[in-house]
Amino acid sequence: MHVQIGTSAQASFEQPLQLLMDCHRRIEHFLEVLVRVVHEASGEEFSYEQRRALETALTYFRDAAPRHTQDEEQSLFPRLRQSAGTEAIEAFELMDALEADHARADSLHRPIDSRGIEWLRCGEISPGQGAEMQLWLEELQGLYQRHLQIEDGEIFPLAGRTLTPEEIRAVGVEMKARRSGIF
Ligand SMILES: [Fe+2]
Ligand SMILES: [Fe+2]
Repeated sequence: MHVQIGTSAQASFEQPLQLLMDCHRRIEHFLEVLVRVVHEASGEEFSYEQRRALETALTYFRDAAPRHTQDEEQSLFPRLRQSAGTEAIEAFELMDALEADHARADSLHRPIDSRGIEWLRCGEISPGQGAEMQLWLEELQGLYQRHLQIEDGEIFPLAGRTLTPEEIRAVGVEMKARRSGIF
């Protein structure tokens, strides 16, 4: 499945903060898919549906999710850090912690991806490997639960209050360009 953002069914690039929140729902969804497939298929051959689900979720985290991180680290956080508002200054530590979370999530997604690709190649999950994957996924779920709550509940509302309409528009323009090969 090709995951596209900014289509008419969802928020547009004119509403970048809403788009970023939509991405969070996709992160939660595809993480749940990974957890479910690993739980259901451990020690067995994949069904057709499980194989498709695993492939789609791995592809999402490999191709689409990194752009979301770039949207935040390269487009949103720098503008918030430059914003003169006291609230934005108070959020500096939060943004540093969120960037550390991105790095940790990335270090978990890499082995998850290579293990997943290996399983797709051989058509099954060995029980021992499934248990290790479950541990990585549990850590990711805990990380994302806290991380997405802070972004949805604190950082995006803060951006909505402190960034100018021009700055928010610029975030959307960069997000769009990032998905059309200009960045
Ligand atoms: Fe995010
Ligand atoms: Fe983030």
